[in-house]
Amino acid sequence: MNDGNERATTMKATATKVRATKQIKAMLATIDVNGSYELPTLEYDYSSLAPYLSEEQLRIHYEKHHQAYINGANGILYKLEKARKDNLYLDQKSTLKKLSFNIGGHMLHSLFWGNLAPQGKGGGDELDGPLASVLNKEYGSVERFTKEFTQAAVSTEGSGWAALTYCTQTARPLIMQVEKHNTNIYPTFAVLMVLDMFEHAYYLDYQNDRAKFVDAFFHILNWNVVNQRFERLLERS
Ligand SMILES: [Fe+2]
Repeated sequence: MNDGNERATTMKATATKVRATKQIKAMLATIDVNGSYELPTLEYDYSSLAPYLSEEQLRIHYEKHHQAYINGANGILYKLEKARKDNLYLDQKSTLKKLSFNIGGHMLHSLFWGNLAPQGKGGGDELDGPLASVLNKEYGSVERFTKEFTQAAVSTEGSGWAALTYCTQTARPLIMQVEKHNTNIYPTFAVLMVLDMFEHAYYLDYQNDRAKFVDAFFHILNWNVVNQRFERLLERS
């Protein structure tokens, strides 16, 4: 490379770096560093997932249970802030355990509402696109995946979740069985789809019949959203 070209390349690289730094600074200026968690908006009416989930079941789950995890997480963040400000002692082990449970609850519920939809608006549609390809590759078929996912969901010990995750290191879509909201997690894996297996998610409609609830879930599962989450992940990777 001659001197002129080398100089031009260096100047271009410096300009790119300056632009990136400016962008990061602009982004940081817009971040609310003392933010708190909020209930996400539901994209459908409470009654629109019936008969698979009743209006009452959905309303209580969303307004009471999800809100409780948000309140719990925000309360702990406030407690942490206050302790720092007043220089008070806090039991970190117990506080962080509760924080993990409540943040996990909020994040998982937010994903859950997002991967549900009324029938005719994506709920129960067949899976298509890149995610179908990777599920077929890993499990042999989407039906086999559904079977394994169902087994993971119904056998969740106590309260927990079944989730479809994706490992970018191995390019494998893996099922994750979460205890409570925060145990048995695969760190850094992207969570593409979740099913709440806490009793509060189904008891009003299905009592102790977990299998029936999981079957109903697939009738209102919005695979289109799950596939979009996967496509966005691939774009970022
Ligand atoms: Fe829940």
